[in-house]
Amino acid sequence: MKLFAIANQKGGVGKTTTAVNLSACLAEKGKRVLLIDLDPQANATSAIGFENGPGNSIYPALIGYAKVEDKIAVTRYKGLSLVPGDLDLAGAEVEVARLDDHLTRLRAATRSMLTQNAFDYAFLDCPPSLGILMTNALAAADQLIIPLQCEYFALEGLSKIVHVIDQIRAVNPTLTIAGIVMTMFDGRTNLSQQVVDEVRNHFKKLVYQTIIPRSVRLGEAPSFGKPIIEYDSNGIGATAYRALTVEFLNRELGHERFADTPGVAAI
Ligand SMILES: Nc1ncnc2c1ncn2[C@@H]1O[C@H](COP(=O)(O)OP(=O)(O)O)[C@@H](O)[C@H]1O
Ligand SMILES: [Mg+2]
Repeated sequence: MKLFAIANQKGGVGKTTTAVNLSACLAEKGKRVLLIDLDPQANATSAIGFENGPGNSIYPALIGYAKVEDKIAVTRYKGLSLVPGDLDLAGAEVEVARLDDHLTRLRAATRSMLTQNAFDYAFLDCPPSLGILMTNALAAADQLIIPLQCEYFALEGLSKIVHVIDQIRAVNPTLTIAGIVMTMFDGRTNLSQQVVDEVRNHFKKLVYQTIIPRSVRLGEAPSFGKPIIEYDSNGIGATAYRALTVEFLNRELGHERFADTPGVAAI
C-alpha cells in the first residue's frame, strides 16, 4: 500500500473533492483504495454517502487505543473502503499534542498497513490548517498531492506547504510531492490560465496536465452523497477526474520521471 496525503492548509481549494473523486475513480479502475477522513468536519465521509456512527474515526488509533485496521469500513463502492471522520478528530489538536511523539502518531499507526497487501492506495483527506492532524499526515505519507485553486495567491500558499515539507523531512525524510492539481479552473477568465501558467513555471511537470474545471455538478455531488462518476458520470467533472486518475497511475507506473521536489528556494 502506498499512502498519500491530500493537503493544503487553505480551506475550500478542492482537497476533499479530489480525495473523494480520485479514490472513487481508482476503485472504478479496479484498484483497492482506502480513503481516510482526517477532517473533523467529515466532508469526505458524507460526500460518499457514508453514515458514520460515534467513535468510528481514526482518532482512537492516534491516541493509541485502537488499530487503524479496526476502523476500516466498507462503502457502497466496490474497491473503496473508508476510515470515516467525525468531530472527535477536533480533540486531536489538544489530546495528541499532549502525547509523546505527537508528530508521528499517525505514522506509527499506519506503518504496519504499508507492508500489508490489503490496499493498493490510501489517501488522507487533510483538514485545512497547519495543525497537528495535517503535520501527522505529512509525517506519515509516502507522497503528497496538493490541490491548488486557480486564483490569486495560489503560489503564496504553496510556498508555505513546501516549507512545511522541508521541516517534516526530519521525521519523514523521503516525503515528496506526487503532484499538484489545479482545481476550479474557470475558462471564462484570464486569471485561471495566468495562475496555471505561473504555477507551471515554478513547478514544471510536477503540475498534473489534467486541470479540474469549475463545474456546478462537482459542487453539487457531495450534497447527494455521491462521487462525480456516479452523480454525473459523463459530465466534465467526471471526465476530468478520470483523466487525473489515468495521469496519477501513469506517474505511479513510472511512465513519467521527475526531478526531486523543489525546495522553498525554487519559489
Ligand atoms: N471543480 C469544482 N467545481 C465546483 N465546485 C467545486 C469544485 N471543487 C470543489 N468544489 C466545491 O467547493 C467547495 C470546497 O471544495 P472542497 O473539496 O471541500 O475543498 P477543501 O477540502 O479543500 O476544503 C465544496 O463545496 C466543493 O463541493
Ligand atoms: Mg475538505
